[in-house]
Amino acid sequence: MLPKHVAIIMDGNGRWAQERGMPRGEGHRLGAESVRRAVRRARTVGVKYLTLFAFSTLNWQRPTDEVRDLMDLLVRFLDEELPELIERGIRLVAIGERELLPERVRAKLEAVEAKTACGGDMTLVLAVSYDGRRDLVRAAQRVAELARRGVLLPCDVDETILAGGLSTADLPDVDLLVRTSGEVRLSGFLPFEACYAELYFTETLWPDFDEAALDAALADFSRRQRRFGRTAEQTVALG
Ligand code: IPE
Ligand code: IPE
Ligand code: MG
Repeated sequence: MLPKHVAIIMDGNGRWAQERGMPRGEGHRLGAESVRRAVRRARTVGVKYLTLFAFSTLNWQRPTDEVRDLMDLLVRFLDEELPELIERGIRLVAIGERELLPERVRAKLEAVEAKTACGGDMTLVLAVSYDGRRDLVRAAQRVAELARRGVLLPCDVDETILAGGLSTADLPDVDLLVRTSGEVRLSGFLPFEACYAELYFTETLWPDFDEAALDAALADFSRRQRRFGRTAEQTVALG
């Protein structure tokens, strides 16, 4: 089976460059090519939602030059990809604390979101300045505000209402979560949304992640049995 929602922690750009004696920025530049490939391939094989971790809230701590490089790359990527996103029916959505982004980046994201809003074939979600715990805190604040205004009672709060306060409110749960570069951690990515996702870790550094690498992750997913608490026999019987 094909996962409906694939999320990727795109890691290893810096090491890719360092291994070649290049500046880290070169790794990020090549990483942007991998993003293009992954988006195209996901769209071609029929993945409906692709969420990419492009920049975490903690990444603001990186050297100023690297942060600027990453922001420039993002704006360039959005400019260059816009025609293809429209042509291929891909809707772009950004999640994360966009008020922390430089104005030019925020404006570009919003322009591309608006121009691709009708895309019905795939949703591409870019997580920029994203941190899952902070997103959960915000959701809790929104729900608390509704309770304060008397719109709902604290005992009415359930998973659906809390999920409705997240920046991923309109997206389905993550089915497959991929992390490249051999690191085996989540780094704050989609803690609520991916809590029942199948996890796939690969040693491949992100700039080397090509169509075949995505296909391998999807093939691995297709061999998993998702039991959601049932026995293997029950799962088979349910089809
Ligand atoms: C991922 O690559 C890109 C971002 C986090 C923005 P890294 O830059 O983290 O690469 P490594 O982990 O240093 O190799
Ligand atoms: C996670 O990668 C964030 C992105 C891929 C954008 P990091 O490289 O920043 O994560 P840590 O610091 O190794 O956990
Ligand atoms: Mg890293």
